[in-house]
Amino acid sequence: MYILGIETSCDETGVAIYHSEKGLIHHCLYSQIAMHNEYGGIVPELASRDHIRKLIPLINESLQQSQILKSDIQGIAYTAGPGLVGALLVGAATAKSLAWSWGIPAIGVHHMEGHLLAPMLEDNPPEFPFVALLISGGHTLLVEVKSLGHYQLLGESLDDAAGEAFDKAAKMLGLAYPGGPLLAKLAEQGQSNRFKFPRPMTNRPGLDFSFSGLKTFTMNTLNNTDKTQQDKADVALAFQQATAETLAIKCKRALRQTGLKRLVVAGGVSANTQIRQTLLEMVRKERAEIFFPRPEFCTDNGAMTAYAGCQRLLARQQESLSINTRPRWPIDELYTQRKPSL
Ligand code: KG4
Ligand code: ZN
Repeated sequence: MYILGIETSCDETGVAIYHSEKGLIHHCLYSQIAMHNEYGGIVPELASRDHIRKLIPLINESLQQSQILKSDIQGIAYTAGPGLVGALLVGAATAKSLAWSWGIPAIGVHHMEGHLLAPMLEDNPPEFPFVALLISGGHTLLVEVKSLGHYQLLGESLDDAAGEAFDKAAKMLGLAYPGGPLLAKLAEQGQSNRFKFPRPMTNRPGLDFSFSGLKTFTMNTLNNTDKTQQDKADVALAFQQATAETLAIKCKRALRQTGLKRLVVAGGVSANTQIRQTLLEMVRKERAEIFFPRPEFCTDNGAMTAYAGCQRLLARQQESLSINTRPRWPIDELYTQRKPSL
C-alpha cells in the first residue's frame, strides 16, 4: 500500500511516499527558515501562505521522482495537529481534497506521534513497549509507549519546550532563528566547567521539566561577562550541558519507574550531538537500548507522517470528509480516539 505523507504543522513543507512493505520510497522537504529569519521567529500567516505555494509542487516532485502514478497511491496521511492552525489547514485541506478526487482515504496524524514513530524508518527499529523522550520546538514530553497509539504521558515541560529554550538562549547569544543548531555549533568552541548551570527540577521527584529558569540563568551569566566570542561559546556549552544532563536524569528515572529497557529519543532537539551522547552514556550504564531517527528525520518531515498514517490506515482507522485540525492535541488522547471524529 503506497501512502502519501504531508507535513505542514509549522515552518517546513514535507512530502513523502511510504510503502507498507517496501518502506520509505521518497521524501522531500522545503524549509521556510530563510523567510522567517528576518523576523527572528515564525510568522504564522507567512508560513500558511508559503505552504500553499510549495505543497502541490512538492507532491508532484515526489510522484515524479519515485515514478509512482497518482493511481498507485492508496491513502493520504497529513498532520492534523498540534501546530499552527493556518499551516495545518493547508495540509488538511490539500490532503482531503486530493483524497476525495482520487477516491482514497485521508487520515489525520498527530505530529508528536509522527516524531515518536520516526525511528521506525531506520534499519534497526525499536520494538514496543518503550519510553519516548520527544524534544521539539513546541513540546517536551516523556511518554510510555505501550503499543501503537497507546501512549501514557509520564512528564512534560511546565513552561518552555526544550527547543524553545535552545532558540531563546541562542537569541540572547546573538544567533539567528532557529538558534538550536547554531547554539550547538557555537558550543563546540566552548570550554567546559567555566560556568555551572542548574539542572532544573532534578532534585525533587517527578518526570516534569522546566526550562525557563535556564533561559534566565543564561541571560544573567552572559551579562556578567564581556560578551566576547569565547564568553558566548562557554555560555552556550554550559547551557547545552545542563539541558542534556537534565534530560538524561529524567529519562533514567522514567526507565527505572516503568521498568522498560528501551528509550526512543525524537523531535528536532534530538539532532543535537551532545544530547545524543549524554543519553547514550546514560542508557549504557542502565543496560538499556536507545533509538534515534537519522538527523534529517529528527526535525519535521513528511516521512514520519506517511509512516504514522500508514500504520493507522492498516489498523483500519477512518475519518469523515470534513476538514478539521487540532492546533492543541494532547498525545495521551490518541488511544481513545482510535475512531476519531476528525
Ligand atoms: O521537531 P521540530 O523540527 O519542530 C517542532 O515540532 O517544533 O523541532 C524544531 C526545534 C527548534 O527549536 C530547533 O532549534 C531545534 O528543534 N533543533 C535543535 C537542533 N536541531 C534542531 N536544537 C538543538 N540542537 C540541534 N542540533
Ligand atoms: Zn515537529
